[in-house]
Amino acid sequence: MLKKRKISAILLMGGKGERFDTFLPKQFHNLSGKKIYLHTLAAFLKTKLFDQIILVCNKEALDIVKNEISNKIVKIIPGGDTRQQSSYNGLISCDKNTDIVVIHDAVRPFISKRIILENIKGAIKHKAVDTCIDTFDTIVQKDSSNFIKDIPKRSSLLRGQTPQSFNYKLILEAHKKALKDNIFNSSDDCSLALRLGTKIYIVQGDDLNIKITNKLDLYIAEQLFRYQTASLEKNQRSLENKTFVVIGGSGGIGSQIIKLLKKEKAKVISLYRSSDLPLNLIYPSSIRKAFLTIYNRYGKIDGLINAAGFLKVSSLKKLTIKEIEELIDINYKGLILSCKEAKIKNKGHIINISSSSCFKGRKNFSIYSSCKAGVVNFTQALSEEFPNMKINTIIPERTNTAMRRDNFPNENPKSLLSPQKVAKAVIDLLKNNELTGSIIEVKK
Ligand code: CTP
Ligand code: MG
Repeated sequence: MLKKRKISAILLMGGKGERFDTFLPKQFHNLSGKKIYLHTLAAFLKTKLFDQIILVCNKEALDIVKNEISNKIVKIIPGGDTRQQSSYNGLISCDKNTDIVVIHDAVRPFISKRIILENIKGAIKHKAVDTCIDTFDTIVQKDSSNFIKDIPKRSSLLRGQTPQSFNYKLILEAHKKALKDNIFNSSDDCSLALRLGTKIYIVQGDDLNIKITNKLDLYIAEQLFRYQTASLEKNQRSLENKTFVVIGGSGGIGSQIIKLLKKEKAKVISLYRSSDLPLNLIYPSSIRKAFLTIYNRYGKIDGLINAAGFLKVSSLKKLTIKEIEELIDINYKGLILSCKEAKIKNKGHIINISSSSCFKGRKNFSIYSSCKAGVVNFTQALSEEFPNMKINTIIPERTNTAMRRDNFPNENPKSLLSPQKVAKAVIDLLKNNELTGSIIEVKK
């Protein structure tokens, strides 16, 4: 059904983002290591459903965007002063033999393949489609003097998201008619189709499909990004014969990672204090020597996984200076130095394992949790310094490891995350060729 049709997407990114209130329009802000609009574009490209994708862009940013994109099916054109004008510019830039057009806000980066597919199928069948979700809040209609005019029944009200998708000729006609009727500033395309008397089919949207409108939305989007593990699982890139170094593989999460990597037929170099190639994270010279030896023996590696952790539950008052140094060296300094010394291929991976304690300092393991917070920040920074590599953090919640059980003997192991699940997230990430600068939480 889809193959015979010419399908175009229009991604609207010509706005100024006044409510976001920064000089740089919101679509160019960074979300988990990548500009917002690039996430949206990637989601559309990944579906492989489109013959053409049109980016309708602010005039000032045209050159920058053109430099960032080299995909042949993507066309970059200037936007207009209103959303409606930008949308119209997109429509008249579509191939003339387009059958179906999917119009989406580039500032909704969490768009799913399900929604896109249902939009296209809906537009083929019904000619016009909107994407909507229920409203949990009561919607109140006001008058011009700031008094309530009406409170319509909530069950009959929905919130409109995008995409909105159409038969190409129909939406083009709707736009032309609107312009003729002096309508220039419609906030969506379906209203224009409605004016023609078109019946518009509703596709179920998703709470995740948020529009980044203000700064709070970007903050929420960063948090939402951490729930990406599910979508990672579908990637099937092979790890066979690739070489990975795992630090901290003598037990816990590290040893599970090694097990899974071997199952994938990858070559694994495991580094710990008593491994064949010994590594003591306390000594910078030991780290340097280990990575030099690896380079001389195997050349550049495909990835480095830092899974070492050292937890000692004790108040700051009771910790000796030596113990404090040891905690910082193993949990933080050693990780930094291993990232510095490892010789990793261009496009290779670094995965640093943090801990859910990074979100909140906890009494009696202040050094451990603050080091793990540092790991998250450090890893994000590194991903910006090496844009060609895939550099990400995994944050497991409390995990059932010997280290955890020793430090919290009264905890019920059934309440803990399994180390296998964390290892699976690591493998999924290694198979993923896109994500960098991401923070991925793994939960029970
Ligand atoms: N848009 C556009 N051209 C315009 C105005 C808006 O392409 N002249 C795009 C925006 O870039 C955004 C989408 O339409 O992707 C939805 O609009 P909105 O969230 O309102 O973005 P802005 O108009 O940029 O924000 P604001 O209204 O706060 O200024
Ligand atoms: Mg706007």
